[in-house]
Amino acid sequence: MKDKIRNIEACVFDAYGTLFDVMAAAAHCKDELGEKWKPLAEIWRTKQLNYTWLRSLMDEYVGFWQVTEDALSFALETLEINNEGLKSRLLNLYQELDVYPEVSGVLRKLKQQGLTTAILSNGTEKMLDNAVRSADIGHDLDHVISVDRLKIYKPHPKVYKLAVDQLSLPAEKICFMSSNPWDISGGANFGFKAVWINRLGQRKERLPGKFVAELTSLQELPTLI
Ligand code: LAC
Repeated sequence: MKDKIRNIEACVFDAYGTLFDVMAAAAHCKDELGEKWKPLAEIWRTKQLNYTWLRSLMDEYVGFWQVTEDALSFALETLEINNEGLKSRLLNLYQELDVYPEVSGVLRKLKQQGLTTAILSNGTEKMLDNAVRSADIGHDLDHVISVDRLKIYKPHPKVYKLAVDQLSLPAEKICFMSSNPWDISGGANFGFKAVWINRLGQRKERLPGKFVAELTSLQELPTLI
């Protein structure tokens, strides 16, 4: 039995990798990609994140949709796949990624427990609206917050402050969930009570910020708060 996380008023979730399965778009194209689907998904995701960090450092922000498309172009070229039709198919699928199976039930329970719920994501408003609509989870989300209005990416502390401002709550009353270990470091370092949803059995980052709990999915979250 894990220790309860006390005095929490809101649960804020990362989107990509935490609520939505970033591997799903390539997985749905196994018919065309064959065994390249997994390396494609991995290179795509790795480059997408690298570009957010590099563009933030360079002060050369473009929206997450552009970053996602650029990263996909890089991944396709790396694997010597030259197929514009497939690229469009992958990008369309990225707008409606599979939601992890426990997400909808967990959000409902948290709402029943009287908690405020929100997404805080690198995704643009349009990307997040599409993902939330296709997963049919909008009714159990109070806020969907995009970094796009700041024009800087996670893990800049200004991004986490967006949630504090929008929810009008101090950081320590917010529980922040992400499957991305560097995002958990960023959120915890900012002051959130961070719960690492370690879906992929990743190693701990050697970065500032200490998470308060580690779970393998969101399933157990409502019993922790
Ligand atoms: C997001 C990325 C980090 O949703 O997964 O913000």
